[in-house]
Amino acid sequence: MKKITKIGVFTSGGDAPGMNAAIRAVVRTAKYNDLDVTGIYRGYEGMIEGDFVEMNRRSVSSIIQKGGTILKSARCLEFRTPEGRAKAFENLKAQGIDALVAIGGDGTFTGAEILSKEYDIPVMCIPGTIDNDLYGSDYTLGYDTANNTVIEAIDKIRDTASSHNRVFFIEVMGRDSGCIALNAGVAGGAEAILLPEVETGIDQLLEEIGFAEERKKTSMIVIIAEGDKNGGAYNISKQVKEKFPHLDVKVSILGHLQRGGSPSSFDRVLATRMGYTAVNELLKGNSRATVGLRGNQMITTPLEEALSKKEFKLDEELLEIANVMNK
Ligand code: F6P
Repeated sequence: MKKITKIGVFTSGGDAPGMNAAIRAVVRTAKYNDLDVTGIYRGYEGMIEGDFVEMNRRSVSSIIQKGGTILKSARCLEFRTPEGRAKAFENLKAQGIDALVAIGGDGTFTGAEILSKEYDIPVMCIPGTIDNDLYGSDYTLGYDTANNTVIEAIDKIRDTASSHNRVFFIEVMGRDSGCIALNAGVAGGAEAILLPEVETGIDQLLEEIGFAEERKKTSMIVIIAEGDKNGGAYNISKQVKEKFPHLDVKVSILGHLQRGGSPSSFDRVLATRMGYTAVNELLKGNSRATVGLRGNQMITTPLEEALSKKEFKLDEELLEIANVMNK
């Protein structure tokens, strides 16, 4: 095993609260072990363009509480080509970077695995995405904070819903994942929750709304994950209005506000544990893997496994509980 002397750290794909806390933990753990650290700006794009910065303990002062990522992020098409990756590796070599820590989602993991295989460079990944849709960790960075943001929004919207006897359709993020919708839906006391993983036809929703009306509910909150198969909150609200013209129907798309903000205590601690573990695993000779949390223990999973396996992240019992609460 070649001795590691300099680690490159970067964030890539969609930003998530907790990424800065993870960068801080990587830098400080590396420094504690007398390693040099280079920050790579804008993920793979910055790697290709040689957009680097030397980092020390002070470069990561006062960032644990900040949302977004000080190293910035991007989605990079050029890195998908062998030529792009060759340029990136040349730049890493010129900088003396001999190992990488990549923070991001599945696109980030895929890029890290390919680069590591092609150029035999050790890499550890940290799962950072609000969607909580990665195999190998019970929770991804940013998910807890996003849930709290969504609950705050639901609570506020409910004030208007009940004051005006309205039905609100609130669309939350999650292209392929209903984790935020289910958790925030339960925590926000939603009357119905629509998820990409569970088929809820529009007829079933209309039935539920009719049933709620019979029970003299005067206002309602329906949470819709962005990846739900019924065509989004606007489309669903239109169909509900057609069937129940007397209802005062409103739509709220929460959008990117879910990705920002100061990370929760849970995300800060998780990020710190993950950054610390990623560097220590590299030093132990582990590579081409992602760190993760399983039952409050830090674990690692080979990238090959993490990228090929699908994990049903929705808590089955919570799904059942949500049904019981809605009735
Ligand atoms: O970070 C994941 C995610 O929030 C998805 O839920 C969403 O579909 C996507 O990012 C949006 O990404 P972008 O910022 O590129 O529009």
